[in-house]
Amino acid sequence: MMTAGQAAGLYELPEEHREIRQAVRDVCDAKVRPNAAEADENSEFPRKSYEALVSADFHAPHIPEQYGGAGADALATVLVIEEVARACAASSLIPAVNKLGTLPLLLGASEELKQRYLPPVARGEAMFSYCLSEPEAGSDAVSMTTRADQDGDHYVLNGVKRWITNAGESEYYTVFAVTEAGARSRGISAFVVEKSDEGVSFGAPEKKLGIKGSPTREVYFDNVRIPADRLIGPLGGGFALAMQTLDHTRVTIAAQALGIGQGALDYALGYALERQQFGKAIAEFQGIQFMLADMGMKLEAARQLTYAAAGRSERSDADLTYFGAAAKCFAADVAMEVTTDAVQILGGYGYTKDYPVERMMRDAKITQIYEGTNQVQRIVMARQLLKGLG
Ligand code: CAA
Repeated sequence: MMTAGQAAGLYELPEEHREIRQAVRDVCDAKVRPNAAEADENSEFPRKSYEALVSADFHAPHIPEQYGGAGADALATVLVIEEVARACAASSLIPAVNKLGTLPLLLGASEELKQRYLPPVARGEAMFSYCLSEPEAGSDAVSMTTRADQDGDHYVLNGVKRWITNAGESEYYTVFAVTEAGARSRGISAFVVEKSDEGVSFGAPEKKLGIKGSPTREVYFDNVRIPADRLIGPLGGGFALAMQTLDHTRVTIAAQALGIGQGALDYALGYALERQQFGKAIAEFQGIQFMLADMGMKLEAARQLTYAAAGRSERSDADLTYFGAAAKCFAADVAMEVTTDAVQILGGYGYTKDYPVERMMRDAKITQIYEGTNQVQRIVMARQLLKGLG
């Protein structure tokens, strides 16, 4: 049996991480949550929230200190995204997609490329998006058709990427393109493309069910000529890099889902204590209590799985692929259930825009779809289990 002193810290968040959680919560309560409904209503990027996150260094916390970043580890980054999502799901895509866009560089780029592109993101002067999906290549990402043809010491990109989060707002884009036709996953390479490169343009913002404050647009590449030194990692190594990146960032989507669900539970708890029916607070009815209990239980299970996955992400453990997929899939399904139940607890009020839970329910849905549908996550998990890596 351990002494109380020895048990301190056993399977709990380190003090430093609890402090980060509190710091993010304070910033978000004061400066992010107040903009969430308006960003949703007007489908407008929440610039004030972005500025608040930049001031507190929570907009791209994962960028290492040597590139001017806060150097947050994967667990701290998860805590930031969870807390931002609790206040505003669309805003949580700022730190999440900055990680998604820059991770291919951190994992595979030359030092020179990292030095050039990471500091502006760390300073909050630029955001970084990730361009993998195409109109005809969603779950089947290997079937992309965007091409990058070598021309001397340049590459020329042509094609269309779809569902690109923060497109138009981001200054930089990691773009996956075919460099060897017919070579399937071994013929895809990754490049940095800048918004200002000639031939880059954007489609109209998609009219979405949720995360409306985060622009989602097509990105068009029309003979975009970029220097060959914008290649990220080895030629033909882009698909593996894309998948490796998603292993890490599926953990951040789990955190986003968790935050959205927690925001909805918090609201439902407050409402259940206030709302009077049949002469008492509805929180006194066991039917409501059982719903609240299930919501809290499922969220806590999702949280533990997400934090365990974050540890694996930080260490790049062999079972990260499995844990990233499991955490994303489980937390997203929990977020959908919990936000739907929150609307139910608020009844007719929950179904209106006068209360935030309908927004949270709409925002939760995307977490079951992007960074790989939950069906794709189950394919990934099953393959890893069958390889003994689950
Ligand atoms: N790490 C490293 N390499 C990996 C890997 C991983 N986790 N997973 C696969 N690979 C490699 C394989 O080893 C294989 O390499 P070789 O060709 O050298 O043998 C290659 O990649 C192809 O792998 P598969 O044969 O498994 O490929 P597949 O065609 O069967 O596809 C898939 C697998 C899991 C379905 C994959 O296509 C996938 O994840 N699809 C979903 C795409 C996705 O998640 N899109 C999200 C877009 S980003 C987004 O949504 C962001 C946002 O808006 C916020």
